[in-house]
Amino acid sequence: MTDQAFAYFEGKIVPLSEAKVSVVTHAFNYGTGCFEGIRGYWNAEEEQVYLFRLAEHFDRLRNSAKILRMTIRESTEELCRIACDLVRRDGFREDCYVRPIVYLRDEKVGVRLHGLTSAITMFVVPFGPYIDVDAGTRCVVSSWRRVDDNVAPARAKVTGIYINSALAKTEAEEGGYDEAIMLTHDGHVSEGSAENIFLLRQGTLITPPASDNILEGITRGTVMQLAQEALHLPVVERSIDRSELYVADEVFLCGTGAQVSPVVEIDRRAVGSGRVGEVTKQLQRTYFDVVRGRDARYRQWCTPAYVATGTPAAVRA
Ligand SMILES: Cc1ncc(COP(=O)(O)O)c(C=O)c1O
Repeated sequence: MTDQAFAYFEGKIVPLSEAKVSVVTHAFNYGTGCFEGIRGYWNAEEEQVYLFRLAEHFDRLRNSAKILRMTIRESTEELCRIACDLVRRDGFREDCYVRPIVYLRDEKVGVRLHGLTSAITMFVVPFGPYIDVDAGTRCVVSSWRRVDDNVAPARAKVTGIYINSALAKTEAEEGGYDEAIMLTHDGHVSEGSAENIFLLRQGTLITPPASDNILEGITRGTVMQLAQEALHLPVVERSIDRSELYVADEVFLCGTGAQVSPVVEIDRRAVGSGRVGEVTKQLQRTYFDVVRGRDARYRQWCTPAYVATGTPAAVRA
């Protein structure tokens, strides 16, 4: 990337150093914001950055905003154009991560959602692996339960809700593990601190349903589709008990940050043989080809940032 980074802020592109909010801002005080994380993959042969499932991320952002009674003035097509524009202006020739945030901008003290104004900002940062994708991670079932949808909307990617993830992640890392797996209040497996979870049992991929307080992950949806279409694996959405984690043949976490990340140990019990499983490896290979724009069958999921003008070629899959 070049020395100067830019941001979309108050309706225009400005140097990142000028994109600032006051300490009185509602979102800063109360966590009243929602956001997305979108990976940009550098494809060296094509000298292109591909933004993965860009429109779907902005669709989810709009849903998160709706739940929080916030509005996004810009259309999804405009937001896609802005994201591509930022990647180009920043000059990324490496993997990167687009972060749009919708937030309550009012400089007012008082907890509520109504009668306030929302704004959207966006910036891009360089981004490598978030957690290990090669050797496999060691997980622990967290003492923190995943936020219940009746406490705070689990399917919305709300800034304030990430305190739940941060508590679990810090507890896991300080306890000597790589990642936390959180349970629902009734004790079913929900998800990782920033990832959805899949188990392989007897040739079937199993993942918790949306109603088990998960964030409805875009990578989760991608993995489900790839598993069925490209690997011809059956996929089942159903509640998972804690002890099923211990007897699964394979387990992996997935998310925009985590990508497809194998789990080799949970609560000091080896997952399967304790090595990265074959199905997980196959899914990883397929996923990494797809996200870098190397699989023609799924090219519509990859929006090229380096197209000079107009609507990005693949706005919506
Ligand atoms: C709590 C949580 N669950 C799941 C995910 C995976 O979602 P996605 O695949 O859309 O990135 C994320 C990451 O955004 C997350 O933060």
